[in-house]
Amino acid sequence: MIKKASLRLLQRPAMEETVLPGEIYRRTSLNDDLAEAGNPAVELNGPLLMNIMVKFFHAYVYPGSHEQVLELNDISLLFDRFVHRRLGSDVLENCLDLRKRLLSYGFALCMLADLPKSVHIFKAIAEAKTQLDGEPYTGLDIGSGTGVLMLAMDVQAKRNGFESSSLVGIERNQIVAERTNEVLGNMGLGNVLVADAKKKDSYGFLEGRKLHYICNETLPGAGRSLWKEDFIFISKTLFDGLEEHTSDAGCFPEAVLVGRSPEEMLTVLDSSTGFQLKDEKYPLRLMKPYGISLSGEMTGLEDVGQAYESFIPSSWKAVLTRRW
Ligand SMILES: C[S@@+](CC[C@H](N)C(=O)[O-])C[C@H]1O[C@@H](n2cnc3c(N)ncnc32)[C@H](O)[C@@H]1O
Repeated sequence: MIKKASLRLLQRPAMEETVLPGEIYRRTSLNDDLAEAGNPAVELNGPLLMNIMVKFFHAYVYPGSHEQVLELNDISLLFDRFVHRRLGSDVLENCLDLRKRLLSYGFALCMLADLPKSVHIFKAIAEAKTQLDGEPYTGLDIGSGTGVLMLAMDVQAKRNGFESSSLVGIERNQIVAERTNEVLGNMGLGNVLVADAKKKDSYGFLEGRKLHYICNETLPGAGRSLWKEDFIFISKTLFDGLEEHTSDAGCFPEAVLVGRSPEEMLTVLDSSTGFQLKDEKYPLRLMKPYGISLSGEMTGLEDVGQAYESFIPSSWKAVLTRRW
């Protein structure tokens, strides 16, 4: 009895504010917002992109909700349940099944829930100009997680005037890949394969097609050595072994600033060298990433998303998860 009462005292109360300010919330479905974003005459501003992010978060947990006009309170309740999924929380009482689901693909949702960074990256991809013509637009998302960058590629295809797009994601985590495949399949936005993107034979599905765009968000966080994640190894596979597919593709990230330290041997890697060093005087795998180029601007990893922080109410800034 006493134990139960003290556990109740440790329970987090429900969040008081909504996850986005009411003034920027649009009473439109995710499908409507994506269609609007695909119109090249529409500016991809913070409010529109924030709406896409939170509604896609909801659709990831409740497939099918992309067609509905949701209440901001319901989206906020889901975010509240997500950020407290490991803790006692009033909003998770009697939600055992949901808590299990949020735990099983939670690491992918953590990246999406870093709303300012997700919005910044989405905008850079969605506004990129393609160099290659020819239908359908073909996009590859490596380390697709929730697949939010596949939504961004679909918007890019529409803004560049393509009639159709063929999008494939590669994700090594089976639970996440299967979930994302189901969610994106439901939205008609492509497929996700469970595979290791370092291996050349994971790309058999390309069958001679040229890629218009490649997303590869498998970089380690700032200050961690490049060998800790697969970015440079995957890039080698893509640009060394598969150049007939990748040679004209646009890339996210467009370029990566790496160095031995923030002051030593700073070098920009991009697709012209397959994201490898021209002259390997020091092993690339021991270098660390410090910035990525977004919309043509080299941006410190810690500064990605900064311009969109003001859309997040302060009580939520403290609890929302971080991308890297
Ligand atoms: C930083 S997250 C990217 C998240 C995703 N782009 C998004 O926007 O939510 C990196 C993802 O890459 C996946 N990954 C890392 N190395 C991989 C590999 N060699 N092959 C396939 N997936 C990989 C991880 O499982 C993780 O889901």
